[in-house]
Amino acid sequence: MTALVRVRDLSRTFDVSKPWLNRLLERLPKRLLTAVSDVSFDIEERSVYALVGESGSGKSTIGRMIVGLMTPSDGTVEIEGVDLMRETDTARLREVRSDIQMIFQDPYASLNPRWKVRDIIAEPVAAKGGATRGLAERLLEQVGLSAADADKFPHEFSGGQRQRICVARALASEPRLIVCDEPTSALDVSVQAQVLNLMSDLKDEFGLTYLFISHDLTVVQHMADTIGVLYLGRLVEEADPDTLFDTPRHPYTQMLLEAAPRMDGFGREVVPPQGEIPDPIDPPTGCAYHPRCPIAIRRCTEERPELRRIGAARVACHRAEESAR
Ligand SMILES: Nc1ncnc2c1ncn2[C@@H]1O[C@H](COP(=O)(O)OP(=O)(O)O)[C@@H](O)[C@H]1O
Ligand code: SF4
Ligand SMILES: [Mg+2]
Repeated sequence: MTALVRVRDLSRTFDVSKPWLNRLLERLPKRLLTAVSDVSFDIEERSVYALVGESGSGKSTIGRMIVGLMTPSDGTVEIEGVDLMRETDTARLREVRSDIQMIFQDPYASLNPRWKVRDIIAEPVAAKGGATRGLAERLLEQVGLSAADADKFPHEFSGGQRQRICVARALASEPRLIVCDEPTSALDVSVQAQVLNLMSDLKDEFGLTYLFISHDLTVVQHMADTIGVLYLGRLVEEADPDTLFDTPRHPYTQMLLEAAPRMDGFGREVVPPQGEIPDPIDPPTGCAYHPRCPIAIRRCTEERPELRRIGAARVACHRAEESAR
């Protein structure tokens, strides 16, 4: 297998300082927020890579940098061997760009309310001068809606149906990579499963590769080939789902799994994640998880743990060997 996406040492900071005049008058320093820090991973062709982490952990920022909507502060993203930020061959760049699509969390906000579904779905193809006759009708059927829906407007659909329309639009330009940013988080649980199944089927049918972003480990368990766990902008653990669920090594992954709803459906005493997520403007020293970690030692406050391979996983924890369960 070859990597379709190669992410190396990817970092992104945001300047969240007050306007310069205030800063000058109040003698305030510049404030930088580190949203993503030194993240490296590969996504194999035709596989699903899931990025999981609590709100604010940097998932969307990574997604946006991968599709080229945001510039990295440092590091690189290569898709099909092309660095979207540095490639100078414009034809090649256009080619790679057209292989990438993104699906967002909010299917209400991402569909133009004044356009008919036909035009919404065909727009990416029409913009490139491609043939759109019958395209929307065909894609609507492929995502479990009907050809007649092409004449309707977005408000005539439920949330789940709208997300299907977003999926149809993403498929229209025949992409190879789809970055899905919490595509089912806004949907009811029962509808979530249907949309996930659909996306899974379409992946096989069209030979797609997904970067699937979610705050919920259980959502990605059955779909992902590889799961990367993010904490405060850093990858803290990466493994295939079986390894991750059977032997989570990072204490943060262990906490996420404990917080996940029980799969038997009964006695769902959900343990909420313990402790507060630290401020990314002023992150803890050493291992950023140390203030919440039940097994932290002195070293954890002083030295940042590197991501290193242990068995089938990559883990960033000084005590990863001891903490496996
Ligand atoms: N445009 C921006 N300006 C300033 N801070 C931002 C911006 N976008 C994201 N952030 C901050 O970066 C961090 C990561 O955000 P995000 O990638 O949206 O996380 P997630 O998708 O995991 O919830 C958060 O602390 C967020 O507040
Ligand atoms: S490095 Fe230390 S603080 Fe961080 S997760 Fe491991 S044991 Fe906990
Ligand atoms: Mg997000």
